[in-house]
Amino acid sequence: MEYPVSQEKISFYRDNGFVLLEHVVSGEELAELREAMEEVMAADSELSFDREKGSAYYNILNQKVNTWRDSAGMAKFSLHPRFAEIALQLTGAAAIRLFHDHGLWKMPHDSKPTPWHQDAPYWPMRQTGALSMWLALDDVDVSNGCMMFVPGSHNVGKLTGINFEQPRSIFDEVEGTAMNAPVVVPLKAGSCTFHHGLTFHYAHANRTDKPRRVLAVIYMPDGTVFQSRNGSGINDHVVTKAVPFRDGDPLAGRFFPVLAKAGRK
Ligand code: SIN
Ligand code: NI
Repeated sequence: MEYPVSQEKISFYRDNGFVLLEHVVSGEELAELREAMEEVMAADSELSFDREKGSAYYNILNQKVNTWRDSAGMAKFSLHPRFAEIALQLTGAAAIRLFHDHGLWKMPHDSKPTPWHQDAPYWPMRQTGALSMWLALDDVDVSNGCMMFVPGSHNVGKLTGINFEQPRSIFDEVEGTAMNAPVVVPLKAGSCTFHHGLTFHYAHANRTDKPRRVLAVIYMPDGTVFQSRNGSGINDHVVTKAVPFRDGDPLAGRFFPVLAKAGRK
């Protein structure tokens, strides 16, 4: 199934820094994705890595990074050209590479919200064009962890990262700058949002008794280069450390494949 993205959606993404896209997977694919994800989230991590159960972070997010490296079933979705084609159209890049995927589950009981943050400060990238697809495997609303976005906040530049366990308010950093009101974005299972790496976003706590299951995939324009986050030139990033990147090296190679190219279908 192809997923054409209207000019209206592309403009919405560029103006607001996020966009909602309905039913990007079929019912059959959703069932398959849920099965693959249940399996990989329950499995021991080999090439993926995850958060320790019971840790403060785990109460915010049960997160497994690089599920595709442990699971062919996940790779089918995380490397799927359909989603990368969407990223290509939204960004207008010449080509799109995978940065990483992650299972983002908000577990029931003692669930904490995901604090307001931008994603780009956590990524070891010189440029800021990377973006995330956030694909809901369950219907999400304010009761189980749907997201909120601040329209236009991708225009304020890259701020310092927020510590999820002891968050300070990101809004303090933009005091004096006119910001739009946050928008709540409930989603049906099989629908997704894409958000720019600089867009302020937040997710509600999960107050239900079932996990909120999400697959997030991070895409980057081809040509994005590595930059250590603390300026040391030392690659200590969890996603890139398997390969010896230095500042200025293109983020490319076997773990960061091109998934979509302009002019190629
Ligand atoms: C979440 O799923 O709770 C947060 C997702 C994100 O920060 O991108
Ligand atoms: Ni985020």
